[in-house]
Amino acid sequence: MHTAVIGAQWGDEGKGKIVDFLAQNADVVVRYQGGANAGHTVVVGEEKFALHLLPSGILHPTKISVIGDGVIVHPATLIEELSVIKKRVKKTSKIYLSNKVNLVMPWHIVRDGIAGGAIGTTKRGIGPTYSDATARRGIRVMDLEKPVRLARRVAEEVEWNKGLIALMLKHHVVGAKDKKALGIADAVDSQKVTKEYLSQLKTLQKLGVEIVDGSKELQALDSKKKQILFEGAQATLLDITHGDYPFVTSSHPTIGGLYIGSGFRPRNIMVVGVAKAYVTRVGNGPFVSELFDRIGDGIRERGHEYGTTTGRPRRCGWFDAVSVRYSARVNGLDCLAITKLDILSGLKELKVALAYAYKNKQLVDYPADVEVAAHCKPVYKTLPGWEEDISKVAKFADLPKAAQNYIRFLSKTVGVPVRFVGVGPARKSLLTLK
Ligand code: IMP
Repeated sequence: MHTAVIGAQWGDEGKGKIVDFLAQNADVVVRYQGGANAGHTVVVGEEKFALHLLPSGILHPTKISVIGDGVIVHPATLIEELSVIKKRVKKTSKIYLSNKVNLVMPWHIVRDGIAGGAIGTTKRGIGPTYSDATARRGIRVMDLEKPVRLARRVAEEVEWNKGLIALMLKHHVVGAKDKKALGIADAVDSQKVTKEYLSQLKTLQKLGVEIVDGSKELQALDSKKKQILFEGAQATLLDITHGDYPFVTSSHPTIGGLYIGSGFRPRNIMVVGVAKAYVTRVGNGPFVSELFDRIGDGIRERGHEYGTTTGRPRRCGWFDAVSVRYSARVNGLDCLAITKLDILSGLKELKVALAYAYKNKQLVDYPADVEVAAHCKPVYKTLPGWEEDISKVAKFADLPKAAQNYIRFLSKTVGVPVRFVGVGPARKSLLTLK
């Protein structure tokens, strides 16, 4: 049985930690969607690693890390990330990069810089890269292996993007300083871009990255009975189809994205949904159980709720069972991992949103329309909190009774068994339940 780890809320649930734990029993770790908009923090011993593009398995020297077909890669970012890690750890895992991966080109970052503000994107060029991929004008890893084709495609895209960027600048107000920071002239210099990307391919290969047909390699590893762990980035409510459209990312963090983004067969995969013991969200969009008071501020400070990728303060709120129930449905979650329970220590009482009040109705299903979600009020159940610091607890049974009851309540209201509970950042601070 292979395993998939999927975000059950709005991202930043602590998936990196769960993946890192589960990777101990896996031979292969696969990223299948998203790009450097993701930010996973993994703590090994005293060391903290912030990963954006690389699968969390990278820190395990005996594994294979796969960047699958559905991921989008900005080569300079991958080089930077890999170089930093190689300086800090003796040996990294083997790294396969699928040849069907679409590349984030400089003009994608410019376009995101001009237009991403309304959604509050990470400005990593994610939306424009996926849009171009879908519009069949993407440039892929396999193009890097054919310099003549690459030069032609870059020249074509540069011409198109010059016009597009000029048009965008007519419709979006961008100050002179911000415009300068976008670096438009360099982004549409086709010779410079071609040269840069060709040289980046060589650097990646020198750093040990192997260009492969990802789907074929995964199938081969499966036939050799290797255990595969699929590492989701972002989360269900940010899915381009199933999330809070348009306040979403441009990939499919839900289970369907795994199959598209890896080319792996859809059988024998256990799906683990990761949810924080509370909720955070970065960027704009509805957030029914959001807290605007000192409790929310306290959670942000204790939980260090600032973006790994952008440093933005995260919006914080109570656990929302409506959205996690929805994630359980869309992904067919087999179990839940609840993270950062320790951050709730010291709160007298805790609230869980069981339903939404909308006009005169009570909604138990997550609304498809963000305009409905924006006008929903949470219907809370209040539970007793606990005072004790639980970050050193090693067994679920040793947690304060109120903390155990809180987890049991979440499991019951979502309708999915909880198998893991995180009580601290270290690898060992993860309690497993039967
Ligand atoms: P984009 O993915 O940069 O286009 O951003 C679209 C939306 O998804 C924004 O609200 C981002 O804040 C959010 N987002 C993207 N990646 C992550 C992530 O890894 N964690 C949390 N939110 C994310």
